[in-house]
Parts: sequence; C-alpha cells; structure tokens
Amino acid sequence: MRIGIANDHASVEMKKELVAYLESQGHEVINYGTDLSESTDYPIWGEKVSMAVVNGEVERGIAICGTGVGIGIACNKVRGIRACICSEPYSARYSRLHNDANIIAFGSRVIGIETAKMLVDEFVNTAFEGGRHERRVNMVMDIEARNF
Ligand code: RB5
Repeated sequence: MRIGIANDHASVEMKKELVAYLESQGHEVINYGTDLSESTDYPIWGEKVSMAVVNGEVERGIAICGTGVGIGIACNKVRGIRACICSEPYSARYSRLHNDANIIAFGSRVIGIETAKMLVDEFVNTAFEGGRHERRVNMVMDIEARNF
C-alpha cells in the first residue's frame, strides 16, 4: 500500500521507526512531516498528509504529534478526511471496519513504538466492512457537506 506519514517536531523519531517498519513489510511510505527537532506547528503537517489522501497521492495516512490530538483535529478539518485519534489497537481496527477511517493519528508522548506498530498494523491491514456502516459514514460526510 502507498501510505503517507506526517509528524511534528515531537514525533520525528517515531515517524522514522514507523517508516522503516512499514517499508520492511513492502509498503511504499511518503514522508509529509518534518525531519527536524526545531519546534514547528502540527497543523502544517496534518494538512499536508490530509491533502495527499484526498488527492489520491496516497491511499491512507498516518499523523503523529505529541498527543495525536492536535494533528488529528487538523486532519479532520480537511474535506474528505476521517481521522481516528487513538492509542490502542481495538479502536484502530474498528476505525477501519466501521468508520472507514483514512487517517490514523496518535501521540509519540502517549504511546511507545511497539504500540504504534500495533495501531499501524490494524489500520493498514483492516478493510471497511460496509453495509450498515456505509450509511453511517455517508451520514457523517453529509454533516461535512452541510457545514462547509
Ligand atoms: C508540541 O509541543 C505539542 O503541542 C504537539 O506535538 C501536540 O501534542 C499537539 O496536540
């Protein structure tokens, strides 16, 4: 899978480890984040990876900041993005099964690298279930359309 990844200064090391991990599994990973430790603003990077997802440059996105909250909120401001902010694998799995999440966001100051790998595994390897969940996802996207 072609996957986009973005991060702020708090998450450079976690980003690098996840890129290596995903590439070792045969995925193509495009880096939309910073590689510098200087303080920077997470909305910049959240918007970049989100635009890559909605433009079809990548199939799914991963967004990391200190908590995952700021960058996840930023991602969800881009039309077409359904970003799941989570810190355990059950939610990561169900964000795909039930919500067709196209970005996963988490915090490098909240979880360790092994948990991050578990989240990414669930997010990348789980398909959307469709059915009744499709109607609900469409209802969510209707909210976005009504409030643009
Ligand atoms: C940066 O210090 C921090 O605020 C950012 O990484 C993130 O946690 C914001 O939500």
